[in-house]
Amino acid sequence: MCAASALTTGLAYGEPEPSALVDQQHCMFCHTRDAPFLAPSFQQIAERYRNSPDAQAMLEHKLRLGGKAHWGDTPMPPAAERGGPLSAEDAHTLVLWVLSQ
Ligand code: HEC
Repeated sequence: MCAASALTTGLAYGEPEPSALVDQQHCMFCHTRDAPFLAPSFQQIAERYRNSPDAQAMLEHKLRLGGKAHWGDTPMPPAAERGGPLSAEDAHTLVLWVLSQ
């Protein structure tokens, strides 16, 4: 992706990890940065959605409330089952971070 489109979508590479949120929501229990494990890696996810303008809102919603599976048969559990409710703002922070991987 070129620098200009990174600016227009508000995405940057290497967003700092929101560690407290990541810990609280146990993201790394199922995901890793670069190797598919119980779930797609964050790099695969970033690759798939980085250039889709609608993906950010869809992923934020999915992180908070869950939704149907896009990768296989196993959907990701909603926030309430992972470690507690997730605010819209926190979901936004997490999605920006994942898409910057
Ligand atoms: C209990 C295991 C588990 C945990 C914990 C978990 N995930 Fe996932 N995640 C999955 C699975 C399984 C998928 C694949 C679901 C699918 O097929 O859409 C997934 C998919 C995703 C996707 C892509 C969704 C899509 O529609 O393509 C994102 C983004 C994501 N996870 C981010 C996170 C973040 C951020 C956290 C921590 C806040 C987290 N996940 C915690 C299991 C988990």
